[in-house]
Amino acid sequence: MKTLACYSMKGGVGKTATAVNIAWFAARAGYKTLLIDLDPQGASSFYFRVKSKKKPWDEKFFQDHEYLLKHIKEADYENLDVLPAHFSFRNFDINLSDISKPEKGLKKVLKGFKSSYDLIILDCPPTISNLSEAVFYTSDLVLVPVIPTTLSERTLDQLYQYFDEYKLNTDKITPFFSMVQKQKHMHADSITRLKERYSSFIDVTIPFAADLEKMGEHRQPLGEFASGKPVFTHVQSLWQAVRERL
Ligand SMILES: Nc1ncnc2c1ncn2[C@@H]1O[C@H](COP(=O)(O)OP(=O)(O)O)[C@@H](O)[C@H]1O
Ligand SMILES: [Mg+2]
Repeated sequence: MKTLACYSMKGGVGKTATAVNIAWFAARAGYKTLLIDLDPQGASSFYFRVKSKKKPWDEKFFQDHEYLLKHIKEADYENLDVLPAHFSFRNFDINLSDISKPEKGLKKVLKGFKSSYDLIILDCPPTISNLSEAVFYTSDLVLVPVIPTTLSERTLDQLYQYFDEYKLNTDKITPFFSMVQKQKHMHADSITRLKERYSSFIDVTIPFAADLEKMGEHRQPLGEFASGKPVFTHVQSLWQAVRERL
């Protein structure tokens, strides 16, 4: 079982679109896949049309594997399950500070899924916090969508610094360019600078594409309604690159 996090401390960069589409590709390739929607905004739960239980969650999330198991929903696609987000997930940082070894809680609770899933995908909220530390500790790969702008460059630098500070394995950080508009000089310049600075970038670029935006209207992964479109091929290449690195 491998764990993949879709993470950035920035919002609106393509984490959820990536998590949803990679989950879809993985399931189609025959991987038993579980997407865990860690973001209280619940965007990937929305795309997969699954709803959480009513009762708020607490630190049980990081302690009780059987309890998690009870709340997993089947998506509309073979091999693909979802643990939907709940608004109470916004308290995860407090919940984690209430348990001993908070960074290890998530890894421990996910270990219980070893015999049921080949791939766990974590769709993360845009924070850097106790929860992110647990995510970084737990994941085999931390996939980071980067919109090529000056501010994103700073954010990626900060992520590397954070990993260094907390003695986490920086090899896990796997950035790729997201929402790229090649006609913008700023994007092209930023891509050049970032590629020079970080050899870890996946050699696949996801363009800015209206079809990806339409996932919200369709409430479906891209492949269900736009498999003939150019952006589909880009996302497929991203999945193949991720698969090779995992
Ligand atoms: N490559 C893209 N091109 C155009 N729109 C995109 C692209 N990727 C994501 N979007 C749209 O941008 C918004 C933010 O994307 P999302 O994946 O939800 O980001 P995050 O999870 O990082 O907040 C959504 O409305 C989504 O449909
Ligand atoms: Mg999101």
